[in-house]
Amino acid sequence: MTHRSHTALRAREAIASVGALSFVLTACNTETPQTAFNPHSDYAIVGLDLFQTIIVMGVVVGVLVEGVLIWAAVRYRRRSNEQLPQQIHGNTVIEVLWTTGPVLVVGYILFLTLPVIFQTQAPAPNGSTNVEVIGHQFWWEFNYPDANVVTANELHLPVGRTVNLILHSDDVIHSFWIPALGGKRDAIPGHTNFIWLTPNSTGEFPGQCYQLCGYSHANMRDRAIIQPPADFDAWLTAEQQPPVQPTDAVAAEGAQLFQMTTCPACHTINGTPAQGKIGPNLTHFASRGTFAGSIFENNADNIRLWLKDPPAVKPGSLMPNYHLTGHQLDVLVAYLQALQ
Ligand code: CUA
Repeated sequence: MTHRSHTALRAREAIASVGALSFVLTACNTETPQTAFNPHSDYAIVGLDLFQTIIVMGVVVGVLVEGVLIWAAVRYRRRSNEQLPQQIHGNTVIEVLWTTGPVLVVGYILFLTLPVIFQTQAPAPNGSTNVEVIGHQFWWEFNYPDANVVTANELHLPVGRTVNLILHSDDVIHSFWIPALGGKRDAIPGHTNFIWLTPNSTGEFPGQCYQLCGYSHANMRDRAIIQPPADFDAWLTAEQQPPVQPTDAVAAEGAQLFQMTTCPACHTINGTPAQGKIGPNLTHFASRGTFAGSIFENNADNIRLWLKDPPAVKPGSLMPNYHLTGHQLDVLVAYLQALQ
């Protein structure tokens, strides 16, 4: 290799290490909120602690093994063309050391991990709030059975109270993951999984379906909204109210159109003939900050964009393009925005 290509190689290596370093540092940056390095629940903390311990152990083992390897390669290298270095194949001491060493290291990891598995897999403590988490192509349903509240994509939870998430799926396998709250777990049709946890601070934390589930897997997002208990109770009470009857003429026309078209076949609006269960419950649609798998901010422009051609903005969406006219879009947007 020429001197010139050596220099080029060095430069590329340097760029690669800077890239790797910035990738590591990004994990701590608040501009990347979907990080597991910023835990906000007991469940997230116990998992991260374990992960970090194992990473540190791995680095120590890696440095030791690499050190011994380099030392042995230099110390016992072939020094002349005639003479082979001393051959130690089958050396009992070395065989015993490098067999028991890894067993002890892995055994220690098992010793640390088993209690965490048993702790987090145990049934939720009595008195936990139950929330059903149901995966759909491509959005999340959150059902509070004790309060008779059903919502979508935004999981409201009270800080400091233990919640029992009951996970299943309505179609294919999805995976529920809000990194700030802890590790991912599959939502499977015909099978129920559980996660229970206690959020330890208020805030909004984004999540993402983590199991390839179709065209819009990447558009299947959600958010946890962790609130002070009083705010959470107020939210829950508001969600229990019957839907707003729009007084505005445009929104009222939208309400009428909603019931006349195919909307009620898929969507529920409590207290109306619309009782479809395929799409999200829209009773308090306007109270949500985002919609359509949490990919859109909830505003008039985005609702219009969505209603105009759902599969165009969310490929594979079960809601088809109904070829609504401009006027129909106007009145439906007004109605949806009235559903506080
Ligand atoms: Cu649901 Cu990926």
